[in-house]
Amino acid sequence: MNPLFEPIIDGIVTHGYGIVDDFLSLGEVKALANRLHERHIAGQFRAAGIGNQQILVENAIRGDEILWIDEATATPDETAFLQLIGEFVQYANQTCYLGLREFEFHYARYPAGTFYKRHLDQFRSDSRRKLSVICYLNIDWKETDGGQLALYLPDSDSNSERQLTIAPTAGRLVCFESGRLEHEVLPATRERLSITGWLKTG
Ligand code: OGA
Ligand code: MN
Repeated sequence: MNPLFEPIIDGIVTHGYGIVDDFLSLGEVKALANRLHERHIAGQFRAAGIGNQQILVENAIRGDEILWIDEATATPDETAFLQLIGEFVQYANQTCYLGLREFEFHYARYPAGTFYKRHLDQFRSDSRRKLSVICYLNIDWKETDGGQLALYLPDSDSNSERQLTIAPTAGRLVCFESGRLEHEVLPATRERLSITGWLKTG
């Protein structure tokens, strides 16, 4: 069993979120970032959100481009990633009885200067989304590059909240309860890459 599964689950149970570094090795990050770039150059990415007349509205909310990872057309690196997530789902179900049945993941590419305003993942589209998972693919990311994930954590003994900012460094995984934690992607000074997905009940 992967020794990083336990600290992720432990974080979710105690704080509502889990963060681990080196969930992906540098080799895995490089391979997945290469696949992302190849697929981007091949024109496979689409602006995230909805299309048509809504694009202007959507751009004010989020500026990323995404590509869903399809098992049928996955490369070996992508298949290995999906397998790792499958093992994590199994572990999460065994330890927390979450009843997770399926998962969906997409690549996300935020061009420099783009962002994703404060939002809740579950509210947006799918109440079967239980856990949000983000794996970052940004090699040599520096604090000054920006692009942090901001989590808004409710403070239990007051009506206030606390903002936790997390740098999107290569190999880092962040996981949180999709229906509970509002969050935001802050603008970065360089392209920001990730694989983002949701673990869902059936
Ligand atoms: C999302 C999201 C966070 C991140 O895609 O819904 O909130 O850090 N992503 O990329
Ligand atoms: Mn989100």
